[in-house]
Amino acid sequence: MSDLDRLLDQARREVAESADLAALEETRVRWLGRKGALTEQLKALGALAPSERPAAGQRINAAKDALQAALEARRAELERAEDERRLASGRLDVTLPGRGEERGGLHPVTLTRLRIESLFRRAGFDIAAGPEVEDDFHNFEALNIPPNHPARAMHDTFYFADGRLLRTHTSPVQIRALLARGAPLSVIAPGRVYRCDSDITHSPMFHQLEGLVVGEQVSFANLKAILHGFVEAFFERPLGMRLRPSYFPFTEPSAEVDMSCVFCLGKGCRVCKHTGWLEIAGCGMVHPNVLTASGVDAERFTGYAFGAGIDRLAMLRYGVNDLRLFFESDLRFLEQFATF
Ligand code: FA5
Ligand code: MG
Repeated sequence: MSDLDRLLDQARREVAESADLAALEETRVRWLGRKGALTEQLKALGALAPSERPAAGQRINAAKDALQAALEARRAELERAEDERRLASGRLDVTLPGRGEERGGLHPVTLTRLRIESLFRRAGFDIAAGPEVEDDFHNFEALNIPPNHPARAMHDTFYFADGRLLRTHTSPVQIRALLARGAPLSVIAPGRVYRCDSDITHSPMFHQLEGLVVGEQVSFANLKAILHGFVEAFFERPLGMRLRPSYFPFTEPSAEVDMSCVFCLGKGCRVCKHTGWLEIAGCGMVHPNVLTASGVDAERFTGYAFGAGIDRLAMLRYGVNDLRLFFESDLRFLEQFATF
């Protein structure tokens, strides 16, 4: 018992001399652990006369508390020092300029879509949209393509188990826009479409631009004028345009739209396969069955529609010769468009 003050002094000295957290823990165990020097003192109480035990016990507990407090204080001190050392060694100068920061840019197909949208907005068109997961009614039936119609075979459709499908063209937005807004209307609907199809000019996911104008005096001449105006504004040069008779179930009459080749200006080159012409869209006058399926009076209203490939327009505008480059996410390709 008489040693207690001396022991406590020594313990405090060892606490103060513990240079890091591990050493401090060793000190704690040495004094307060199961076999620690102060713990042994408590065990020795049994050897004292019963009358002396309470006072001795109190003194030992007080010594334990004092040592505990000293340990805690030293631990806090060591932790603070450790924090400061870490902060000092990992110092950041937030005023230094960044390294390796490169500017991103919009994807060329996005640039093309935005450009198309702004040109058509200026001509008074609204922008409409529809879901990429479509149902049979909007993608086919309402577009005058009943079940078993041979035109379904041209679409290479991806189907879901429940009968829904990935839209094969943006034409279902014609139906949705007419059902939602009624006639008259002028809209374009750019968006992703999907077909089980892949080579240098076909990709399983690509982008189409749908156009639809319905009104009381809408004619085929209006269609041709809008398309020609668009092509010249988009490519920023005078270009020829021609319509070739074609077939779509949802338009009648129907045509394929060709413009003079942007690379040779119609003289003939590899890109246009020496014809001088490039196909850019399908179009026609909206079939009365489509108007009727969309709740529009086909006696009173007529309309035109067109569907162009946005990726094809992007290829022609930027001189890209393989459609797949757009979808491979190769930075060396994409970086070339970052400043456009
Ligand atoms: C259609 O999809 C019609 N819905 C277009 C239309 C709309 C006609 C309104 C009349 C009225 P088509 O399957 O030809 O038609 O596709 C239209 C354009 O999409 C093509 O001219 C081409 O530019 C582009 N295209 C078609 N398939 C692919 C493909 N796999 N990859 C990239 N572009 C494609
Ligand atoms: Mg076609």
